[in-house]
Amino acid sequence: MRVCVIGTGYVGLVTGVCLSHIGHEVICVDNNAEKVKLMQSGQSPIYEPGLSEIMQSSMASGRLSFTTDLGKGVNHGDILFIAVGTPPLPTGESDTRYVEAVARGIGENLNGGYKVIVNKSTVPIGSGDWVRMIVLDGIAERQRVPVGAGVSAAANSIEAQFDVVSNPEFLREGSAVYDTFNPDRIVLGGSNPKAIAMMKELYEPIVERQFSEDTSLPTVPVLVTDLSSAEMVKYASNAFLATKISFINEVANICDRVGADVTQVAQGIGLDSRIGNKFLQAGIGWGGSCFPKDVSALVHTADDYGYEAELLKATINVNDRQRLLSLEKLQQVLKILKGKTVGLLGLTFKPDTDDMRDAPALVLIEHLNRLGAKVKAFDPIVSQSGIGSGLSGVIVETDPERLADGCDALVLVTDWKQFKELDYAKMAGLMHTPILIDGRNYLDQAEIETAGFRYVGIGR
Ligand code: UDX
Ligand code: UDX
Repeated sequence: MRVCVIGTGYVGLVTGVCLSHIGHEVICVDNNAEKVKLMQSGQSPIYEPGLSEIMQSSMASGRLSFTTDLGKGVNHGDILFIAVGTPPLPTGESDTRYVEAVARGIGENLNGGYKVIVNKSTVPIGSGDWVRMIVLDGIAERQRVPVGAGVSAAANSIEAQFDVVSNPEFLREGSAVYDTFNPDRIVLGGSNPKAIAMMKELYEPIVERQFSEDTSLPTVPVLVTDLSSAEMVKYASNAFLATKISFINEVANICDRVGADVTQVAQGIGLDSRIGNKFLQAGIGWGGSCFPKDVSALVHTADDYGYEAELLKATINVNDRQRLLSLEKLQQVLKILKGKTVGLLGLTFKPDTDDMRDAPALVLIEHLNRLGAKVKAFDPIVSQSGIGSGLSGVIVETDPERLADGCDALVLVTDWKQFKELDYAKMAGLMHTPILIDGRNYLDQAEIETAGFRYVGIGR
């Protein structure tokens, strides 16, 4: 099928590349010309395991191309994905101006022929109808329909043959390609059977497990709902996962006080099939571009409709406090932080990504600087890619030994698998005081203590 993806960020680029990989003809549109030039040269502007390879093979087979020309993309695609950013406003609301700009742009470029417009970006509940209205506005503006005739005239024009569908994404950064080919479910929100049928055809190779790791698995469930329910599925999924993490972090904080080990407790509760063992890793809390944004947006939506989302507010509060926990532990072991040197192991919000958006490390850097400590860091991706040069208040080292040299303590902030293989004995010898705070309970306490460190975990 002919597809256009608008917005080539962490979600849009992965969606476009993977759809071209399963056989569709995809044009990706982005208004960042530099980014488009980079992608036209076959390079991915983001780090996602497996993405570059399938991006280049799809380009070589002529099924994938990139442009800044929205009109070209709109005319090409029978299915148009809106995957531009919906970053949080200071109030917690989603900033939907980019979605609005793109929806209007689509309306201005529709040229007849039925289109399915897909909301891939996480948009506030009820946005599907809002997107439809804006597309119609775009059509009306272009036709410069006489004032007063307004949207109804545009709606009757031939160009208005389109429907809006919500198709939320559940991609985890660092495994977005894997998650695309191995989804637990596909959710389609919309009322027009023709639009839903086209979306089912689009995803059929994935539903039939043709690109799954395990092709013997049963077909992927496709859930069809109304527009608002599909949008709510996205928010509720992220809010539940964030709440599950805040729950185990709350338990960890109690374990710290009663001398229990939260990693054992997590195993114990995780064996209950109703709870499950995933997303029960206690630590310094969640970050990234989705959980913080989506949970606060859901709280904001509830406020808009006169409901106090107490549980979700508590989920956010526990997480905000959790980020400062490693600071408290540093103060417990080092007492005065002024003049001390602290080394961070990891900067990104999670492993296998280059994304620093709302990373817990950024909060730690800010507070350590405020308290007069010197901060260094090593991150497998950031240290090499040079994006660390844009960070203030932290010296980004190129290897773990240079990081350890002269430090009074290390804090493991991101559970990169490389951090299991470091030469901790050598690092301990380079430090003023060999103290390691394991912000993700990721390392083996006995091994780290044998290497000469004082080990401090979270709730263990
Ligand atoms: C975005 C949303 O933030 C997220 O909530 C949603 O689930 C998926 O889309 P992400 O892909 O991480 O996630 O956004 P981002 O990395 O900011 O990429 C957005 C892209 O859209 C950028 O490449 C930007 O250049 C592009 N863009 C933005 C346009 O092409 N046109 C615009 O008008 C605005
Ligand atoms: C999340 C959702 O998983 C995904 O479905 C949605 O589409 C986008 O948001 P992502 O934010 O990329 O994906 O990463 P995820 O793996 O969910 O981790 C989010 C944060 O939670 C990270 O900061 C991670 O360190 C933290 N986390 C995760 C924990 O602290 N404990 C856990 O057990 C799991």
